[in-house]
Amino acid sequence: MRANYDYYKAAFEGVEMPFAFVDLDLFDKNIKDIVQRVGDKSIRIATKSLRCTTLIHRILDVSPQFKGLMCFTAAEAVWLAKQGFDDLLVAYPTVHPKSIQAVFQQLQLGKKIYLMADKLEHLERISQLAEGLQITVPICMDIDMSSRYPGLHFGVHRSTINCLSKAKLFVEATQQYRTIKLCGIMGYEAQIAGLGNNVKGQGIKNTLIRFLQKKSMREVAARRQEIVAWTQNRIGPLDFVNGGGTGSVDQTVLESSLTEVTVGSGFYSPTLFDNYQQFCYAPAAAYAIEIVRQPTDHIYTCMGGGYVASGALGRDKLPLVHLPYGAKLTENEMAGEVQTPIQYKGSIDLQLGDPIFLRHAKAGELCERFNELLLLHKGKLLSGVPTYRGEGQCFL
Ligand SMILES: Cc1ncc(COP(=O)(O)O)c(C=O)c1O
Repeated sequence: MRANYDYYKAAFEGVEMPFAFVDLDLFDKNIKDIVQRVGDKSIRIATKSLRCTTLIHRILDVSPQFKGLMCFTAAEAVWLAKQGFDDLLVAYPTVHPKSIQAVFQQLQLGKKIYLMADKLEHLERISQLAEGLQITVPICMDIDMSSRYPGLHFGVHRSTINCLSKAKLFVEATQQYRTIKLCGIMGYEAQIAGLGNNVKGQGIKNTLIRFLQKKSMREVAARRQEIVAWTQNRIGPLDFVNGGGTGSVDQTVLESSLTEVTVGSGFYSPTLFDNYQQFCYAPAAAYAIEIVRQPTDHIYTCMGGGYVASGALGRDKLPLVHLPYGAKLTENEMAGEVQTPIQYKGSIDLQLGDPIFLRHAKAGELCERFNELLLLHKGKLLSGVPTYRGEGQCFL
């Protein structure tokens, strides 16, 4: 059955609002599409874009191609390790001693958790804490994948390692420490993976972004390959070479030096991922708010709803009214903390107590607002499954 307003309204009849849900038919379709796109590389799941262990398991169970998780904090990696997950890459540097020591405990229990580093200071902190313990800490080197053009930093500000000579210094430094082993390389091309290039109403800007993305990808892919080749030549084979994200899969998989790509957002496919020329995943995750008043004709005011996404301020961070088709936020109020007026002039006779369905701009952040995700399968409501928040976990 086609997922339209009546379909979802009937499926959730009687459920108290607000609630968040995942349409498993669409979620499973996205998993299949992603596997097909990735070809023969492994896929590391970006857990921050799911924040629900049941759904992480569901993806891992589909194919052995899903191998390992990319975590957003060390605390998350430790928590997941305690639940039986393994091969956990912490995608950003960890500097707090307690967080690092918690990872060490898991290493001592035989878990594989890779800590991210791009500065000698990261290595120094980790090695000092590891001194005297019988462990070797697996490290992943983060390389900068941004491009610099006159007047434009095209990419994100993350790693200090933006050329082969800096990578050489770093790799050689890792060899000075008895307690550290460089096991992986990650290069995340955010300006390609996380920047929509087919945004409605910005024709010329889209063309410019696509031009820059093509140019940048050529350049940063060459940088990544050069660094990977030199490093493996110097220290031997790595456990993995990671790159990409949902928005760059098609380009990233072409690079032979990579063993795996990261994908997270593509499974729920929030609104920021509607804006790419190369792909279109299905809107699998959404939330419902309840109409509680109707102040004038065509305005239906709902309870709650103001879940705005992080990042540079902009309209693209607002939730999108998903269903009924044609409904939208109002210019004056947009998405509110406790009240969200929805403008609708369509043919559905909306009443108090009816739902309005919205989609979040980002994938995992939706889960910070709800304790559970309701699961829908072939029009039937299954039981809810806990989000990280529902399990009492709040990492960032
Ligand atoms: C290091 C890194 N890799 C990959 C990704 C891609 O994740 P997603 O597929 O959810 O966009 C991200 C997203 O922020 C990231 O920070």
